[in-house]
Amino acid sequence: MDRFVIEGGRPLSGEIGVMAAKNAVLPILAASIMAAEGETVLRNIPAIQDVATLIKLMGTMGVKAHFNADNSIKIDASGLKTFHADYDLVRRMRASVLVMGPLLARMGKCEVSLPGGCNIGARPIDQHLKGFEQMGVTFEESEGYIIGTVGELQGGKVYFDRPTHTGTENIMMAAVMARGTTEIINASCEPEVKDLADFLIAMGAKIKGAGTPYMIIEGVDTLTGVEYRPMGDRLEAGTYLLAAMATRGDIKIEGIRPIDLGLAIRKMEEMGAEITTTDSSVALRMLGRPARTDVITMPFPGFPTDLQPMVTSVLALGEGTSYLRETVFENRFLHTMELARLGADIRVQGDTATIDGVPRLKGAAIMASDIRGGAGLVVAGLAAEGITEVMRVYHIDRGYDRIEKSLTRLGARIQRVNKGEYRS
Ligand code: EPU
Repeated sequence: MDRFVIEGGRPLSGEIGVMAAKNAVLPILAASIMAAEGETVLRNIPAIQDVATLIKLMGTMGVKAHFNADNSIKIDASGLKTFHADYDLVRRMRASVLVMGPLLARMGKCEVSLPGGCNIGARPIDQHLKGFEQMGVTFEESEGYIIGTVGELQGGKVYFDRPTHTGTENIMMAAVMARGTTEIINASCEPEVKDLADFLIAMGAKIKGAGTPYMIIEGVDTLTGVEYRPMGDRLEAGTYLLAAMATRGDIKIEGIRPIDLGLAIRKMEEMGAEITTTDSSVALRMLGRPARTDVITMPFPGFPTDLQPMVTSVLALGEGTSYLRETVFENRFLHTMELARLGADIRVQGDTATIDGVPRLKGAAIMASDIRGGAGLVVAGLAAEGITEVMRVYHIDRGYDRIEKSLTRLGARIQRVNKGEYRS
């Protein structure tokens, strides 16, 4: 099993670009299932485990999807032959539920194993199911599978109790091929939802209001394959920017829209970073120790929950006491126990972490337990004095395309090693 060995304490510096966002690529791949005709080509796609898992799942359904050496994926969904999504693949990744909308739209049926994925809370899919039911789908559960059936999807009003990211995407995909008009009320405003809408519109869908809480979707009969370049990975960019803060570095990230980072840029400034942006890049310079601040994670445009573990690592080195409240996922604090092994002083009570900043962290062996939590540990390891070993990097590989390569380009000393292979 791979692990990272990090020689910390070096400021990150330099300039890199990011590839397409995992959380845009996954729904877009799922949506490509809906093109009964024409080939879809997706560009600038990262070679990450979650993309490989979804391609495999689509393959079991008769959809030809091929990841090419130039980081493009070609998809031919004309041969879709089944509505069954197998447990063995779905359990590896929660985003597999994104095939529900496309399967219901094309086949009127879906049979999807209850999802697995990251260890960050219960994460039910009740809001997805409630939304589909509003569109005429009936559900039954059998042997760990959810089976949805509908004669013809009907437009209607779908209300979400809270803005769910993949829930909004699932309902939007079903609605683009439903009869009549669908309104989504309290939709997720995450930039990846808007990117999926742009892809669907390119395929022939009629969608208004994507990126706002109120969406209107007019059903169409068919969608056609297109060529598309999904948005850049704002969360990968945010990870490197926060790593530069923790190491007091000076870096520039190309390929994202700063506005897509929501409140994160403002919080970085509050902690003392000097930030310069263009329409498609963010540069960050950090001179001293981070200033204390309070962070509340919220749906977009609030502070992204996916950057919470990385900002925890920065605040662990901050001056004074910071409070961090996680309002999106109830179990997203596992990384704090590992950070304590590096010398961080963090107490978690309920949804709030109290972080008493320390002047320095010291390297130790620590373990990743989910994608972003793992990336947060890497950020801490880059800042810690001495050697940090991060175990179970397969979690990180689900969402980052060789994170160690990008970090090495930014001057970090980080190596991927297998058992006992490391030589200093
Ligand atoms: N929720 C429900 N019922 C539902 C759906 C969601 O109670 O039917 C709850 C969840 O349990 C959670 C909250 O609503 O407490 C928000 O969940 P949401 O549905 O928005 O999250 P998601 O769609 O499962 C996506 C990303 C996550 C990201 C969140 C929040 C993808 C594939 N995943 O998850 O990304 O953290 O939105 O923005 O887009 C990651 O990339 O590492 C990752 C976990």
